[in-house]
Amino acid sequence: MFEKLNTIESDAILGIMTLYNDDNAANKINLSIGVYQDEGGITPVMSSVKKAETKLIKNQLTKTYVGIAGQLKFNQAIETLVLGADHEVIKSQRIATIQTPGGSGGLSVAAHVIQRAKASAIVWASDPTWPNHIPLLSTAGLALKTYPYYDRQSHSIKFDEMLSCLNEANQGDIVLLHGCCHNPCGADLNEAQWSQIADLCLERDFIPLIDLAYLGLGDGLEQDAIGVKVLANKLPELILVVSCSKNLGLYKERVGTTSIISSCLGDKEKAFSNLTNVARSIYSMPPDHGAAIALEVLSNTDLTLEWKKELSEVRERIKNIRYLLSSSLNSVQSNIDFSFIENEKGMFSFLGLSKDQVIELREKYHIYLVESSRVNITGINSKNLDYLIESIARVLS
Ligand code: LMR
Repeated sequence: MFEKLNTIESDAILGIMTLYNDDNAANKINLSIGVYQDEGGITPVMSSVKKAETKLIKNQLTKTYVGIAGQLKFNQAIETLVLGADHEVIKSQRIATIQTPGGSGGLSVAAHVIQRAKASAIVWASDPTWPNHIPLLSTAGLALKTYPYYDRQSHSIKFDEMLSCLNEANQGDIVLLHGCCHNPCGADLNEAQWSQIADLCLERDFIPLIDLAYLGLGDGLEQDAIGVKVLANKLPELILVVSCSKNLGLYKERVGTTSIISSCLGDKEKAFSNLTNVARSIYSMPPDHGAAIALEVLSNTDLTLEWKKELSEVRERIKNIRYLLSSSLNSVQSNIDFSFIENEKGMFSFLGLSKDQVIELREKYHIYLVESSRVNITGINSKNLDYLIESIARVLS
């Protein structure tokens, strides 16, 4: 029967990663997949994470399942990390959270619950968005539409167009928003804009689905959660998916959560039973190891402090490379003003190159970025910066 299958191409991001791995050139540069690289080109295990893991392994007595919703304490630690312990949503117990296999697992669970609650709901995704949002959400049977978000000419958010498009959303539709460090464009909404979106949600009665995959990699843990908090302060219902892949560097351990905030305790209980029931029907029990490490880091004062310091170093490195990349590009050519790179947040920005220029960078210079010209800023370091700048300047000339 498998002869009936069509061969599926790798997606836009994984395909480039494979090409990079297959390239033997010594000077190759990986600016593709969104995995943090340090100055030495390594994706390190954070020291706080290593300490938590060592303690965990030493004290672990069993490998039995932790339960369908994962560890309650981990789920609470993530709710508190994002919203703060005193948030009304937490105090009034309107939030139901389950531990999921990464943020992607969390998005998938969310999509299935949305489908059960309202099969006709349309999910509105930003144009552009993370390419994997589309299959993750549509596989659950949801229809997707896009709203304008990023203007590639002016490198700014098309906020008025975004609002007028979302004005067409129907009651019960879902609006997918990037909590911070927008993937792929790095352009984030400010607090006033989040507030306007909250008002529109109330007016049109649509529900935000926030993907918070890069908490702490933009302006800080508190600041990066401002959008979630503005929405949670104003709205009766929202869905939040959090990933610990990037901010705790736990990628392959698959650590995330899905939370549903409901207007009352009764709805929260219904939401929780559906979250766990969907999880049971897709993967049954979540993996424990990474979440147990995250819980150890988040519940031990010394480890939390150490982790926050490590995360702030990651953030500072990102800001520094953003500055170096934009100023160096501006110093070698004058056709394009690259200052926008300095102002964007998190791991990604578009260089604004054409597909042909991206392919030329790859084939002639062994520099790998996604065809949209999205670059992972952290793949740049003091050793490869000059070669990268020269190569981009050649491609642009
Ligand atoms: C990315 O956008 O590169 C990351 O989120 C990793 C992935 O799985 O695509």
